Amino acid sequence: MQAASKDRLNAHLKAYQQEHLLAFWSDLESESQDQLARQLDAIDFEFMQQLHAGSREIADLETVASRATSPAAVRLEGEASRDSDDAHEAAGALIAAGKIGAMLVAGGQGTRLGFPHPKGMFPIGPLSDRSLFQMHIDQLLAIGAYYGVRLPLYLMTSPATHDPTLKFLQEHDNFGLPREDLHVFCQGTMPAVDLDGKLLLDAPDHVAESPDGHGGMLAAFCNSGCLQDAQERGLEQLFYFQVDNPLAKVCDKSLIGHHLLADSEMTTQVVAKGAPDDKVGNVVDVDGRLMVIEYSDLPAEVGERRNADGTLELWAGNIAIHVFRVDFLERAAQSNSALPFHRARKKVPFVNERGELVEPAAPNATKFERFIFDLMSSAKNAIAVEAAEADVFAPVKNATGSPKDTPETAQAAILARDRLRIESSGIELAPDVAIEINPRYAYDAKTLRDKLPQGTKIDRDTYFH
Ligand code: UTP
Repeated sequence: MQAASKDRLNAHLKAYQQEHLLAFWSDLESESQDQLARQLDAIDFEFMQQLHAGSREIADLETVASRATSPAAVRLEGEASRDSDDAHEAAGALIAAGKIGAMLVAGGQGTRLGFPHPKGMFPIGPLSDRSLFQMHIDQLLAIGAYYGVRLPLYLMTSPATHDPTLKFLQEHDNFGLPREDLHVFCQGTMPAVDLDGKLLLDAPDHVAESPDGHGGMLAAFCNSGCLQDAQERGLEQLFYFQVDNPLAKVCDKSLIGHHLLADSEMTTQVVAKGAPDDKVGNVVDVDGRLMVIEYSDLPAEVGERRNADGTLELWAGNIAIHVFRVDFLERAAQSNSALPFHRARKKVPFVNERGELVEPAAPNATKFERFIFDLMSSAKNAIAVEAAEADVFAPVKNATGSPKDTPETAQAAILARDRLRIESSGIELAPDVAIEINPRYAYDAKTLRDKLPQGTKIDRDTYFH
């Protein structure tokens, strides 16, 4: 049986020059052989070969980028933002009708942060020590309580984060989110290849695979039954955000409202870039379609183009916060071409011919990932809606001590935002006092004013919860 299995696999792998994946076959216990055989059977080697050869790349990105112009957008200041009362009203009505849910992606490996657990478990609350997961769930519960509805959370993990995430949430009773409102689903994986297109083993009986990118959400959302759940609940829209941004304003009404007013299938929240070479993806228009061009793919002369008033033409920075119509996701999931794979050179540990695990010091492999923002170009009426960075974006990407996007920079942003909330409600704050507000304490300005009447003085660090 095992020998037959080896012959069959070997013949198949040989057609794609991947026989090395069976190098340790005869040393493996039969259980390990079965596991490896199952993994190999699930890999589409034809497709991997095409990815390695680049025949599935987006054609001539540089020419595409040269045609980029500023995207259809609602700016913070300007004509279109005048109707923001209408936007808030439309969003409020949608939320109150229970027609929106949240989609949180948390399948990344968080390699740069170097935290030995899923990133969502990172204790980011500057005074509260709340984890990223808890901070996001607190927002959902606060909105639900304010509008008298329940907002479901679809939480995407990957094989790298799934079990510890479930355990953490269970240990904390889902931070108060009812069980029926939490759907944890696991995204798919992709093998990595070396320079010659050979897949790598990370154990004698296991091919190295990693999560297939946040764009893996689309397939996983459908295959897991979560899309169906969303439809059965009557959800029309989904608010999408990433676990590592504690400042993300869940179900931001301005974003959702403009998305509804524009009858858009996918709307993306953006912040204005400070400089042409800011290291963010650029939300741009190409031939009447919105798309994101990564900073590394944008030719410098295109990024530097300016309007007559000196402002950047390509001003819109991607912060990975989107709203999707649920029926758009359903349609996109049926199309094979909606999400291409992007390639990235990465360090991927592998076993050498002696069966020893090697941790490479430099990138040794190409990983293939899908990016969810690529859906934008197939969405009808897609627009960008600007927000102030200090209100919505403080990602936790790098370890303490790095120059930017660290736990400390995110904590400083949370404190600055919450201090401003207190100050705007007219409360006297001693200088240097640190303030953190749990949105469940006060979701809106009026509640905050009611709870902290005029004349209140705050002279010590306070976590309002
Ligand atoms: P990043 O691309 O910043 O990756 O993910 P990361 O895993 O957090 O960190 P590094 O690059 O390994 O240091 C942005 C967001 O997308 C999610 C992450 O969990 C994060 O919320 N993501 C990323 C997924 O859900 N799946 C993926 O395959 C990749």
